[in-house]
Amino acid sequence: MAIKITITSTKGGVGKTTLTANLAGLLADLGQRVLAVDADIQPTLSSFYHIQSRAPAGLMALISEARTEGVISTSTIPGLDIVLSDDPGGALQNWILHQPDGRVRLRHLLSGLDDAYDIILIDTQGAVGPLQDAAVLAADLLLSPIPPEILSAREFARGTLGMLHRLQPMAFLGAPVGPLKGVIYRMDHTRDARMIARELRQESYAPSRGAIDILDTIVPSTVAYREAATHRMPVHRWEARRSGPTASALDTMTQLVHELFPHLSDLTPSWGSEKPSIPHDKEGHS
Ligand SMILES: Nc1ncnc2c1ncn2[C@@H]1O[C@H](COP(=O)(O)OP(=O)(O)OP(=O)(O)O)[C@@H](O)[C@H]1O
Ligand SMILES: [Mg+2]
Repeated sequence: MAIKITITSTKGGVGKTTLTANLAGLLADLGQRVLAVDADIQPTLSSFYHIQSRAPAGLMALISEARTEGVISTSTIPGLDIVLSDDPGGALQNWILHQPDGRVRLRHLLSGLDDAYDIILIDTQGAVGPLQDAAVLAADLLLSPIPPEILSAREFARGTLGMLHRLQPMAFLGAPVGPLKGVIYRMDHTRDARMIARELRQESYAPSRGAIDILDTIVPSTVAYREAATHRMPVHRWEARRSGPTASALDTMTQLVHELFPHLSDLTPSWGSEKPSIPHDKEGHS
């Protein structure tokens, strides 16, 4: 069975697509068969990596025509396939809304790919809507990047927990809402990571208690994540080493993968002919 993770937040611009792409790239370099699904009408994930072989169709046909043939493109990263977002007008939102099984379709369709993939990652748009619902309901596990400011974190909790609460009844239709893991994301040196993590986990953050599990891995804010995206490569390849107190992207993303997938802890990533391009060590943070 493929493990399905939806990267979601009701807040925009928090790092969902970057996190999805980098997790997908590292998991592929760990030898996993990975499918990334771009469920955002703004096709940012679709253009994150170079496409090796472009399928004639994408997400629109997957959901509206209920077919998995001809909708899966391959990337230039061995082991990483992608369902491209091909609905710039956003017609799919309306289609899902008016289809009796609209919101649970993606879940049922992806279960048809259980033998073909080890891990399926679904990127979503940072706004509530039928397509986001469909992506959330397709997941075994939800992953949310959380900005390390307590106010926006609280706002995140209200929005995202509200969304989970609203979708809870879908369990009766065979689509239970998965547990949610939060990862403190884009941490900079001006903040005390432990203090924010503690606040998020504990009393001052009562709305989330029991509903959101905050991971130990903290993803720092560094230019490597932007540079790697510019060069269309996974950040662990781009910044395998780094000097100074901040963890390298390779170390950070590896820790995150181990936390999310303990059964992969023994694996080390390797990437073939394309040598990692290691930039000059950067001072401080972006
Ligand atoms: N760890 C990081 N450090 C610094 N910048 C980052 C990091 N991760 C992502 N970014 C930058 O933050 C911006 C937003 O990231 P991204 O597009 O992944 O967010 P998003 O949640 O997918 O946004 P949207 O809601 O619009 O889809 C991008 O410019 C990206 O390059
Ligand atoms: Mg995005």
